[in-house]
Amino acid sequence: EKGNYRHFMQKEIFEQPTVVAQTLGSYLRQADNSVALPQFDFDISTIRRVTIVACGTSYYAGLVAKYWFEQFARVPVDIDVASEFRYREPVLEDGGLALFISQSGETADTLAALRHCKEAGQTIAVVVNVPTSSMAREADLLLPTHAGPEIGVASTKAFTCQLAVLAALAAHMAVKKGLMNREEESEVVAHLLEAPASLNAALDHDEDIAAMAHLIAPARDVLYLGRGPDYPLALEGALKLKEISYIHAEGYAAGEMKHGPIALIDDQVPVVVLAPSGPLFEKTVSNMEEVRARGGQVVLISDAEGLAEAGEGCIATIEMPKVHPLIAPLVYAIPVQLLAYHVACVKGTDVDQPRNLAKSVTVE
Ligand code: M6R
Repeated sequence: EKGNYRHFMQKEIFEQPTVVAQTLGSYLRQADNSVALPQFDFDISTIRRVTIVACGTSYYAGLVAKYWFEQFARVPVDIDVASEFRYREPVLEDGGLALFISQSGETADTLAALRHCKEAGQTIAVVVNVPTSSMAREADLLLPTHAGPEIGVASTKAFTCQLAVLAALAAHMAVKKGLMNREEESEVVAHLLEAPASLNAALDHDEDIAAMAHLIAPARDVLYLGRGPDYPLALEGALKLKEISYIHAEGYAAGEMKHGPIALIDDQVPVVVLAPSGPLFEKTVSNMEEVRARGGQVVLISDAEGLAEAGEGCIATIEMPKVHPLIAPLVYAIPVQLLAYHVACVKGTDVDQPRNLAKSVTVE
């Protein structure tokens, strides 16, 4: 079933342009560049707060979505990992939408959090990849991702498909609240529809990433930095590397470095910086310079323009296509997935079945 691929994870990384296109196709209408969600029987324009709950990579998709809900729909968003959410006393007021994100739809903590929110009278929305799962059955609003079966324990294609659905949902809410006019909606949809081609362009750099993986493989620790909607991608990159290559990695908001983690920097610590050109580029680059001034070994991921401006002096650069900031989190998922994948291959670890991990965590 792996076809020409060495691992399921590799196959699933390369499926992303196709499955993201499929997923977008079921939430966007290309004919008039509009958002088209499945029918549901509550008025989304009256939602006063969105509470997002998930685990692992699905949680990082939720972190990206928080930026979009706030930016487009101007709705307050609370987000937590399911194992924390359940054991605090979250304030769930009437008129709230509780949004659960899960590949499997069976993650025990997320499912328990869903049931808790249901009892508390929240409207339940679920972004899930397995349409027959427990979470899918218990949703008021079921938003499937069309990633197809994901076999690799490290989640890849489910993540980018989750982002595709979440962007459509945030835009839909904005339209219904009267905060996004037809022209703006059509622009947002057009940008989203550019994602599959940009994912393909990102995958074209697979060999460059494979060729530099040996620079990361010997490291004991690796830091990932990003800003804004790309900050969760730094967290995701670090999680992927930890899971399959067993190298300790942390993701940080680029601006948070100087509040502590910069003390870790020396010439043994590779620092992967995610910096698409755009409104946050200069700020992220100045954080990168702070790292470099302390001997940090920077791997810069940016587009040609960004690399021309800031790539000099990095130990390696990874070029991405130039994309609209809205789809950057989808596109920048590719290099962090591929980097983790190739580092794991250099180290010879079991990529699809990493030690101590299960595909679906059905214990609390
Ligand atoms: O099936 P779910 O999306 O609910 O799973 C959540 C996490 O267990 C999952 O994302 C996990 O972190 C992956 N191994 C990440 O690659």
